[in-house]
Amino acid sequence: MSEKVVDAVDMDSGRRKLLIGATSALGAVGMVGAAIPFVRSWNPSAKAKAAGAPVQADISQLEEGQKLVVEWRGRPVWLIKRSQEALKRLVAQEGILRDPQSTDSKQPGYAKNPHRSVRPEVLVLIGLCTHLGCAPVYRPELEAADLGKDWMGGFFCPCHGSKFDLAGRVYKGVPAPTNLDVPPHMYVSNDVIVIGKDADDEENA
Ligand code: FES
Repeated sequence: MSEKVVDAVDMDSGRRKLLIGATSALGAVGMVGAAIPFVRSWNPSAKAKAAGAPVQADISQLEEGQKLVVEWRGRPVWLIKRSQEALKRLVAQEGILRDPQSTDSKQPGYAKNPHRSVRPEVLVLIGLCTHLGCAPVYRPELEAADLGKDWMGGFFCPCHGSKFDLAGRVYKGVPAPTNLDVPPHMYVSNDVIVIGKDADDEENA
């Protein structure tokens, strides 16, 4: 199985932002691998990718608070590692959320829980606002001056002001109707996650 860096990798740790352009050189992975999580694919054809072939990501170097972006079906998928403190805050803020139990939101059954993920610490989300599809901004800091004293970290959509918490759950009183979508995903090892495929697919194959 050949490996290559797919599309673009965007890491956002709050303090540093890096964007790596598309490359097919495996050597380039080695050069940046010490500091930057990287993404690998099963090297699907362009046609297969457009049709939704799964994408594989290595999260072994993803640190708490960091965000990794991979592309699946032409859409950005975020992978974010949350701290234990951030997970505790998810419970504390349920009162300000429109759909805290994700009853009316889109996610696989295994992600219909308060943290909306398979592993509590690793969040996997489609990075598009559920209002009109803008790209929300990752704002992990607490009490951000422009977002209010009760801001506990999450995502802010600059188009019409929708707010989401660090599980992608939408606030009350904003235009976005539902939580951010969670794509199908599964772990194939401790450090490797596949987007666009899950255990149900495996059983049905
Ligand atoms: S597209 Fe995000 S609030 Fe409208």
